[in-house]
Amino acid sequence: MNTPKDLLTIEALSDEDIHSILDRTAEMKAIFTGRQNSNVLAGRSVLTLFYEPSTRTRSSFELAARKLSADVTTFSVATSSVVKGESVHDTIDTLMSMHMDYIIVRHKNSGIPGVIAKHCKASVINAGDGAHAHPSQAFLDAFTLREKFDSLAGKRIVIVGDILHSRVARSTSLMMQRLGASVAYMGPGSLVPTTAHTGIPRFTDWDTVFEWHPDVVYLLRVQNERMDSPFFPAADYHQAFGVTEERLLRLDAMDACIMHPGPVNRGVELCDAAMDYRNNLVCNQVENGVAARMSILSYLHPSTLSL
Ligand code: CP
Repeated sequence: MNTPKDLLTIEALSDEDIHSILDRTAEMKAIFTGRQNSNVLAGRSVLTLFYEPSTRTRSSFELAARKLSADVTTFSVATSSVVKGESVHDTIDTLMSMHMDYIIVRHKNSGIPGVIAKHCKASVINAGDGAHAHPSQAFLDAFTLREKFDSLAGKRIVIVGDILHSRVARSTSLMMQRLGASVAYMGPGSLVPTTAHTGIPRFTDWDTVFEWHPDVVYLLRVQNERMDSPFFPAADYHQAFGVTEERLLRLDAMDACIMHPGPVNRGVELCDAAMDYRNNLVCNQVENGVAARMSILSYLHPSTLSL
C-alpha cells in the first residue's frame, strides 16, 4: 500500500489511511504502556520545529519518535537564528542539509506546513497551523472515543467555545463526522460560524445543548492570542458557556463525557469539579497522544527513504 508522505489535514487522508492509523494506534499503545520500544524508525531523524508554544503536542511527538528508536532534534525558535531574521524557507533548507526524515511543524500562519511539505523530501506533519488544522489532535481524540464507545457511529459530540479560531474544532469535527458521529457547535455567537458556512448545527446556549443530548462535550479554550480585540465580555464566560457545577450534575445524569485539547483554563471552560469528573477524558487524550503520534510517524513514508 502507498502511504502518504505528509500529514497536513484530515481532508487529505483516505478512509483507509484514517482507519489504518487508528488501528495501528492500539498496537502502539501496547508498546508504549508496556514500557517497550520499537525499531521501526531506527536510523531516521525527526525534527520538531515549533514557532508557537506547546506542551502536549511537542513532548508527545518527541517521546513517540524516541519510542520508535528515531534520533530527535528539538528546534527552539527563541534560541535559533530565526530571531536574527532567518526565513522559514532558509531554516528548512539548513535543517534538511542535516538529512531530516520527518519535520513536525507548528506555526501561527495557516498553510505553512503545506508549503514546507512541497519544498522538501522529509515527511511533514502539521502540529497546528493558525486556525486551520491540527490533524494529530483529531487522531488522538478519535482513538480516545473509540476506546470509550468502541464505535463513534451515531454518537453526538458538541464542541463548545471558540470555534472560529480553533484548528482543533476543524480537524476533530471532520474526523468525528468521517467516523459516523454527529457534531454540533456551541459558544458565543461571535465565535461560532453559521450553519450555512460549516454545515454543522450551531447552538448559542446550554439549554439547546442539553436538549440535543450529547454523548460528549468537547470544550475549547478561548484563543485570545488570535483576536485583536475581545469578541465577548470575558467576565461572563464561565457562567454563560463553561461547565459550571450545576451543568456538571446534568452531564453526569446523562453519562456524558468531557474532553478538552488543553491547556484548560480552570474556572473558565471547566469548574474544578469537572476536572475530577468520572467521565473526564482529558488525561486519556494526553496518554493516547503518544500512541497516536507513534502510529502517525510509523505510517507516513518520507521521500528521503527512496534516496
Ligand atoms: N492540544 C494541544 O495542541 O496542546 P499543546 O498546545 O500543549 O501542544
